[in-house]
Amino acid sequence: MSSTCDLVIYGAGGMGQEVADLVGAAGADGAPWRVVGFVDDDVELAGAEIVGLPVLGDHTWLEGRSVAVVVALGAPAARRRGRDLLRSLGVAELPALVHPAAYVGKDCDLGAGTVVAARAVLTVDVKVGDLAIVNIGATVSHNGRLGDFATLAPAVHLAGNVRVGEGADLGIGCSVIQGHTVGQWSVVGAGAVVLDDVDPDTTVVGVPARIVSKRRPGWQE
Ligand SMILES: CC(C)(COP(=O)(O)OP(=O)(O)OC[C@H]1O[C@@H](n2cnc3c(N)ncnc32)[C@H](O)[C@@H]1OP(=O)(O)O)[C@@H](O)C(=O)NCCC(=O)NCCS
Repeated sequence: MSSTCDLVIYGAGGMGQEVADLVGAAGADGAPWRVVGFVDDDVELAGAEIVGLPVLGDHTWLEGRSVAVVVALGAPAARRRGRDLLRSLGVAELPALVHPAAYVGKDCDLGAGTVVAARAVLTVDVKVGDLAIVNIGATVSHNGRLGDFATLAPAVHLAGNVRVGEGADLGIGCSVIQGHTVGQWSVVGAGAVVLDDVDPDTTVVGVPARIVSKRRPGWQE
């Protein structure tokens, strides 16, 4: 006998709508989630309907409710803040969600609250932390490591043995050659090709990737 669990999506923006689509597709395959709606801290959205789902209120709506929550905020620092708010409310259950059209190798690990979108591919011995996003069509090759809140935009490609630090944000269509590290809370611009390690808190763009800015350590807090 199958049972369903109520799921609330925290964030009604683009990422939240992508997650609603993911859960709908997974449900077609008998996955255990039933989306009851969004919560969003934009108070003007309360009561609205987005992609056919109600916006139930802001995050305080979750207080004392027995639901699973996925934090669907695109920016890594926003997801971290969202996770902290949920913890302060005692909301514990953050499922990892995988689109049925993604491939996750059998010895890969996904942390709590991580989202793997359609056509993403994680092959051999890939370890992903909590609340990471592997977006549409992104690929992570053998022995890849993604820290908590790491974010791969659509069509990012990581060669083997690439490490992506906590909160690093890799833009659409960029790639990283084998064995390199993108440091924590760094940003890689759309379309960049990373040929060297990227220091923490650093933004790189272009082909080959070059540094365009650095932020003070801890900027995301
Ligand atoms: C890199 C990025 C984050 C901007 O960073 P930033 O520190 O604000 O940089 P700026 O916009 O001030 O641009 C700095 C320089 O980098 C260049 N630049 C910015 N993004 C670039 C990119 N993706 N590729 C090549 N050059 C880029 C700018 O033209 C500018 O060049 P200049 O100094 O010669 O004028 C942004 O352009 C980007 O690529 N974001 C990715 C978005 C994305 O993939 N979203 C997916 C959502 S699912």
